[in-house]
Amino acid sequence: MLFKEALKPKPFVKWAGGKRQLIHILKKYVPKSFETYIEPFLGGGALLFELLPQKAIVSDINEELINAYKVIKDNVEELIDSLKRHRNEENYYYQIRALNPKLLSPIERASRFIYLNKTCYNGLYRENSKGEFNVPFGRYKKPKIVDEENLREVSQYLNTADIEILCEDYKKVCRLAQKGDFVYLDPPYHPISLTASFTKYSKYDFSRQDQEELAEVFRELDRKGCYVLLSNSNTEFIKKLYRGYDIIEVSANRFINCKGEGRKKTKVELIVKNF
Ligand SMILES: C[S@@+](CC[C@H](N)C(=O)[O-])C[C@H]1O[C@@H](n2cnc3c(N)ncnc32)[C@H](O)[C@@H]1O
Repeated sequence: MLFKEALKPKPFVKWAGGKRQLIHILKKYVPKSFETYIEPFLGGGALLFELLPQKAIVSDINEELINAYKVIKDNVEELIDSLKRHRNEENYYYQIRALNPKLLSPIERASRFIYLNKTCYNGLYRENSKGEFNVPFGRYKKPKIVDEENLREVSQYLNTADIEILCEDYKKVCRLAQKGDFVYLDPPYHPISLTASFTKYSKYDFSRQDQEELAEVFRELDRKGCYVLLSNSNTEFIKKLYRGYDIIEVSANRFINCKGEGRKKTKVELIVKNF
């Protein structure tokens, strides 16, 4: 079932909530065999690239991200050529950032997206209320704007395996799951801090109600006979939502801002599974 050839594709963007740090733990909770791998909150796809399943449905609500996956699949050489033309200069960065991605060709759009991800401050994707990417220039000395080898490996994997790439809300994607499929749910996390807001600013935000609805989708997938694995933050609210399932508390390195404590290991993550 797993992709057999010696490919080692990795996530091609840095992504908020990316799971590369947790991957060695997540891997332990993957079912031994399953039909289709389904990842409805794809982001950078850390678990997808770790498992390299032969058959998968992957999706995210972020159009820029999903366009990039599709372009890497279909036009990787043109994308690499376009990425090579970008420059790591502040004025140039703001010119590219100001472009309306919807008016660009899919290749230019993916190239802009990857360029901004590699050169913006912290590599985070963030939009303002008008849906415009608004992260400032990162001032990195030598960002790797184009990683040719990895882009080609990602492309080869997406073309060799049977991978359906969608840009849909997770609920629609979960309806495609059938008995025996493995669904990995990695939603935007429920905020740990009490002061963090539950308000929905953009389509990417996940409110308290969204978390409740997701827990209902988890239960539906369970009833259907899917293997379901979910990651989220370790809060009482989330633990209550998944009561009755197998809940594992996981340590992860996190930046703790208060009192200059720096990096600290705390049990801030939860893994929930039904198998
Ligand atoms: C925690 S990140 C996933 C990180 C990913 N596992 C990785 O390794 O990079 C959550 C993702 O959910 C997406 N998202 C937010 N709301 C969504 C929704 N309603 N349906 C589908 N995707 C959504 C965001 O765009 C974001 O990419």
